[in-house]
Amino acid sequence: MTLKIKDFKHYKKVYADSVKNPEKFWAKQAKTFNWRKPWKKVLENDFRTPAVKWFVGGKLNITENCLDRHLKTQGDETALIWEPNDPSRPFVTYTYKELYQAVCQAANMLKSKGIKKGDRVCFYMPMVPELTIGVLACARIGAIHSVVFAGFSASALADRIKDATCKMVICSDFNARGSKNIPVKKVVDEALKKKCDSIETVIVHQNTGEKVPMKKNRDVYWHKAIEGQSKSCRATQMDAEDPLFVLYTSGSTGKPKGVVHTCGGYMVYTAFSFQNVFQYEKGDVYWCTADIGWITGHSYIIYGPLLSGATTVMSEGVPTYPDAGRFWHICEKHKVNQFYTAPTAIRALMALGDHWPSHYDLSHLKVLGTVGEPINEEAWNWYKDKIGKNTLPIVDTWWQTETGGIMISGLGDLSPQKATFAGYPLPGIQPCLVNAQGKEIKGNGKEGLLCIKFPWPSMIRTTYGDHERCRQVYFSAFDNMYFTGDGARRDKKGMYRIIGRVDDVINVSGHRMGTAEVENAVNEHDNVVESAVVGYPHDIKGQGIFAYIIPNKKVTNEAAFVKEIRAVVTKEIGPIAKPDQIRIVSALPKTRSGKIMRRILRKIASGDTKNLGDTSTLLNPEVVKELLKKK
Ligand code: WT7
Repeated sequence: MTLKIKDFKHYKKVYADSVKNPEKFWAKQAKTFNWRKPWKKVLENDFRTPAVKWFVGGKLNITENCLDRHLKTQGDETALIWEPNDPSRPFVTYTYKELYQAVCQAANMLKSKGIKKGDRVCFYMPMVPELTIGVLACARIGAIHSVVFAGFSASALADRIKDATCKMVICSDFNARGSKNIPVKKVVDEALKKKCDSIETVIVHQNTGEKVPMKKNRDVYWHKAIEGQSKSCRATQMDAEDPLFVLYTSGSTGKPKGVVHTCGGYMVYTAFSFQNVFQYEKGDVYWCTADIGWITGHSYIIYGPLLSGATTVMSEGVPTYPDAGRFWHICEKHKVNQFYTAPTAIRALMALGDHWPSHYDLSHLKVLGTVGEPINEEAWNWYKDKIGKNTLPIVDTWWQTETGGIMISGLGDLSPQKATFAGYPLPGIQPCLVNAQGKEIKGNGKEGLLCIKFPWPSMIRTTYGDHERCRQVYFSAFDNMYFTGDGARRDKKGMYRIIGRVDDVINVSGHRMGTAEVENAVNEHDNVVESAVVGYPHDIKGQGIFAYIIPNKKVTNEAAFVKEIRAVVTKEIGPIAKPDQIRIVSALPKTRSGKIMRRILRKIASGDTKNLGDTSTLLNPEVVKELLKKK
């Protein structure tokens, strides 16, 4: 186990030491893992290229640390609890030994299909144990996993497969979500028709077991493919800086980019942050409700917990199926000690009534976590009061796909609590606020752009296939700093509150979306000349999507048009990107240089029409009147 912080005073000391001598601090944490060969140098620090390396020359395999390492001491203890969508079906558990064997077997299966170190394997699956097993099987043999959230459309899946030139897709037949049975294999088939030439094999896990078409010489069922494969598999030796996975995420411009994380630093940081933020103690049962299609699932369902020898719960269903008590039922049933979810889920459940949690025994809970978007005060208070009975700590964890692990957060019940404040940085993390010119804003009680001024082990290394993009997006805005894209405030005591994105990224129910990405999808409709997409405050989702659309021809049936626009976005990206509000307009407010003035569109979308700010630089000020008139 890595260093465990005991109280807030201890945190302050550890933090100060970690900033004074980061290399010494991280080397100490890294030494608690199994390495095949020790590193020669702890850190190569180059933020500008960027070319940051941690544990240079060190050799390891992360699965030996997730699995093999625990076999002797806790082989028969539960590693994974899987709770199916349908509560009348039995839950499934894997001990560390069983998980180890399942991972080895799947790793041998991958090898038998020609997957080698460095090859990319795409996952498009619901939340089933085979997803965790498959991901770890890749890591076992050094293949790079690229998990795509199973809510994305065939086009979005195809884009991601092509960008990473994946050799294999692992999917399920269907996805059981609430009362729905969503086809999964069908989407993969559709995606693979879109010039995904690199794909050689499709492995199909039988989830619901209904028949799906199987393509000869390409598609194989998971249970057939693993048949006869040995349950032991020597782990491939990896360099600390070899890529572990790619995970696609949206930015302000262009298509989603593949964020690359590497083996050594990611391992050290996810374990360290997991153990400290959740104050995990041996024997605890930990549940993160995220989907493995997002970074939260990678770092805090799979890697962080398993590296720590924890029992991690994975649930297939949705918070409201069969009713709004499902989360609390699962907490009671598995005696969950640490519970980690998103503000959007809290708000949705809060809206359904206080009586739901009151039916269940939540007395095993010790720490409540939240992640993905700023949590509003009302939701924070409800969580604290109704779930935490006003005694449990809430850890509001701020981080990003790119940071790999939690950056700013309370540590269990050790840290001071303040509603809507993420709090203090984790040891080794050096956040700062800067102004638009990149000058650091020192002192407390200040607001600015959130940057990180020193490398940390689990930071993004590159964007897959396009290093220059990585440099431009994250490391070029301000010299020698990583720019997060978020705005933040530091209160009088130095606690951070994340205000939200300052770029053209919107956060809908904790899902990150680029406005340009949604606009491109909207523009695929035949009757669209131009569109502009902005976020606006939404009671449950945090932010909703508002699309202003200029049609080609006059729209005669507005309801039908709106439906078609939503359908085209669902087809291009997925249902999560569907605009909540659509407004048909004859023009968009533009500056003289032709840039859409989104500031105005955001104000109108949020109903804040009184103070639109300076509109004198607009090329077409008359359009503002039109936008204001249409309500
Ligand atoms: C963006 C990153 C980190 C895993 C899930 C999202 C927002 C994330 C918080 C929080 C306020 C938050 C930020 C960030 N965000 N956590 N606790 N408080 N905002 O990962 O999809 O990469 O999104 O989510 O705006 O930049 P992601």
